[in-house]
Amino acid sequence: MPNDLVLTEKHDAVALLRFNRPEKLNALSPEMLAAIASALEALDSDDSVRAAVLYGGERTFAAGADIAKMAELSSVDVLQGGTRDYWLRIWDAGKPLIAAVSGYAYGGGCELAMSCDLIVASETARFAQPEIKLGIMPGAGGTQRLARAIGPYKAMEMILTGEPVGARELHAAGLVNRVVPAERLLDEALELAATIAERPAVAVRLARHALRHGFARTLEEGLEMERHDYRLLYDTEDQKEGMTAFLEKRDPEFKHG
Ligand code: COA
Repeated sequence: MPNDLVLTEKHDAVALLRFNRPEKLNALSPEMLAAIASALEALDSDDSVRAAVLYGGERTFAAGADIAKMAELSSVDVLQGGTRDYWLRIWDAGKPLIAAVSGYAYGGGCELAMSCDLIVASETARFAQPEIKLGIMPGAGGTQRLARAIGPYKAMEMILTGEPVGARELHAAGLVNRVVPAERLLDEALELAATIAERPAVAVRLARHALRHGFARTLEEGLEMERHDYRLLYDTEDQKEGMTAFLEKRDPEFKHG
């Protein structure tokens, strides 16, 4: 499906997804979410891509769900025609994702950043879950992911007041991996993605799986999942290569298979 709402560029093994709805601050209309989901699925079927960066531009990452499309909805509309399927497809993305956040990451934009595996933010980035000001609440993971990332008390304040919080504060709180000057943002995010893309792809995939899926379960279940994923890696060529290279005091040449 051709679309110009999300533009995909390749930087060697890293894909850069640029959101392209600047006139509406990348508001996440159903079409925009569908475009993001499709772009991520295209990466999943491209073996040459081993990590991706999601970027909305300097002024905004994404200013939330499209309020113009939500104003007249009923709860039945939300149940039947909502955007849940798009979000499920986004959450199912198989490659490591880095959100490069500059400007507004509000509402669904904050939830989209939190759907990624790492968040690199510029000094200008502001995160908010402002839904409460519209008479609703976060509906794409905000209450759950924010609380898990920064703890229930800070998350409660953000969600009940709807007020924005800056990148530095959220870096200290554990949501943001790195805060960088605005002009360095994209390069830093791409470099971080390139580092991950250099690592053996199957090990990256299983480590990411154990962390993402194990974290949502009990410690015992998470440990079991980790053990299972860990054991599988001993069937990969890259495990043999990584350990042999170490013992031979040389750099590994991973095949990513
Ligand atoms: N949905 C639909 N349109 C949006 C939008 C959203 N979430 N966020 C911004 N826009 C649109 C504005 O309506 C405006 O369109 P227009 O030029 O046709 O009038 C355009 O994007 C620019 O936004 P504007 O409000 O003029 O920019 P600003 O710099 O003054 O303010 C924000 C930026 C992010 C503070 C403000 O746009 C805002 O509060 N947006 C809503 C955030 C939100 O509540 N998100 C959660 C939704 S559930």
